[in-house]
This record gives sequence, structure tokens and C-alpha cells, in this order.
Amino acid sequence: MAGGKRIRPILVLATYQIFREDIEKCMPYAMAIEMVHNFSLIHDDLPGIDNDDIRHGKPTNHKQFNEATAILAGDALLNQAYMVISDDLEKSKPEELSNKIKVFKEFASSVDRMIAGEYVDTEYESKQINDKTLEYIHKNKTGALLKLCARMGAILANAESQDLEKITNYAERIGLAFQIKDDILSEEGNEEILGKPVGNDKELEKCTYVSKYGLNGAKEILDQITKEAINELSDYGEKAEFLKELALYIQNRNK
Ligand code: IPE
Ligand code: IPE
Ligand code: MG
Ligand code: MG
Repeated sequence: MAGGKRIRPILVLATYQIFREDIEKCMPYAMAIEMVHNFSLIHDDLPGIDNDDIRHGKPTNHKQFNEATAILAGDALLNQAYMVISDDLEKSKPEELSNKIKVFKEFASSVDRMIAGEYVDTEYESKQINDKTLEYIHKNKTGALLKLCARMGAILANAESQDLEKITNYAERIGLAFQIKDDILSEEGNEEILGKPVGNDKELEKCTYVSKYGLNGAKEILDQITKEAINELSDYGEKAEFLKELALYIQNRNK
């Protein structure tokens, strides 16, 4: 009911669908990642992090309720994500377990990277940043979960290693693209459509692709990596149509 776009669960299902049709098999993993994502948003908006009052066109969790509730709601969503996955592990067939344990491990390490990215993002407010550190923030705070989604879909579908590599290359690019677009929208988006504040990165003196490369520079990088992402899918034809459209959606979205 939070009102997000649900790109992460969609990415899990759409990637799985390139290789197999029984998408209900990856539903617990799709749900778990959306739960972690919502934990990350609730905590990201807290006064100690970005201090934002509006998300999805509504008061943020700590505004609607209070800070203690928002901290604990985030903690609970994170923990319950693992409960959803462990329920699925318990019900799985022995031959499914090796892939699912691989996914579980990757899930945990990707969440850890998201948290690390958030940490470095806050540490660099009002500071000079080099290209590498900026890329580190974006690839971790946002890219890690998106990359995880695509890789979970492919691993759960038992994709071959060369397929997993192409999916990973695609996902790394759309993961970075997603945050560059988020930076662009924080500069020139429409608050009403976005459902969250515009100008907040500037206000907190965040290091972003817009602050580092300018609006046009950020847009050029975004266009370039979107093309690269789509190129990674050239082997899959029609089957990858949705993932190609998703890359273009990320590039052109206004919310
Ligand atoms: C916003 O992600 C936070 C970032 C990682 C940039 P989304 O734009 O996917 O969030 P919702 O769930 O659709 O609001
Ligand atoms: C959010 O990054 C990343 C995570 C929540 C992990 P931002 O702080 O740039 O995203 P918005 O603009 O608040 O959604
Ligand atoms: Mg933030
Ligand atoms: Mg934020």
C-alpha cells in the first residue's frame, strides 16, 4: 500500500520470464526485495538521513506516525523480508536448494551494499567527491538491489553462466542509470508527479551526477549507459522486449 512503482519485483519476474514461464516460483523473492526497498525508503527519509517530509505524495512514515515508529517499521520490513525467504526455503525441493541458497547469500550481501552506499552518501554531504567515490555511492545505494533483482530472476530460473553474465551487465547499467535519473529528477522533476520533494539534493549539498557533471553531462551519461544496457540483451530477441522497454522507461521516467 506504500504506493511505489514496484520496479524491483517486476525486474525479478521479467528476468525470470526470459528463461522460464512459471513466474510464481520467484514471487517470495520479488516480495522480499520490495520489503527491503521500502525499509530503505522509510529510513532514507528519516531526519538523521535525508529529512524528507513527503514520499509517494503522502507524509513520510516518521511524519505520519513518529520517528520511533519509522525506525522500527524499517527494522521490521528488513527482518520480515528474510522471514518470507526462509518460509520459501523450508517449502523447497532439495534439488532447488543450491540455487536458492546462492540467492539468499546474494540477497544479504546486496542489502549490505545498499546500506554501505547510504552511509557513504550521508558522509559526503557538503564535501568534494571524486568520480570513483560518486560511482561507488550510486552503484551501492541503488544499483546493488536492482542488480540483485535481475540476478535473482536469472539464478532462480537456472540460467547458464554466460546468460547470467549478460543479465548482470544489463542490470549494473540500469542500476546506475536509475540513480542518475533520480538525481536529474531531484533537479528538474515535477514534485506533484514525483510525489517527493524536488531540490532536496541541492539543499543537503548531496554529491550527485548533476552536481558533478551538470544536468546535460548527467543526461549524456544516462543515455550512454541505457544504450549499453539494451545492447547486452541483443541475443534474446522478443523475449527481452520487456527488459529493453524497462531500460528506456528508467531513462525517460518522470516519477
Ligand atoms: C527510489 O526508488 C529510491 C532510489 C533507490 C532512487 P524508486 O523510485 O524505485 O521508489 P518507489 O518505490 O517507486 O517509490
Ligand atoms: C535513495 O537515494 C537510496 C535508498 C533509499 C537506498 P535517494 O535519497 O537519492 O532517493 P530519494 O530521492 O530519496 O528517493
Ligand atoms: Mg538518500
Ligand atoms: Mg532520499
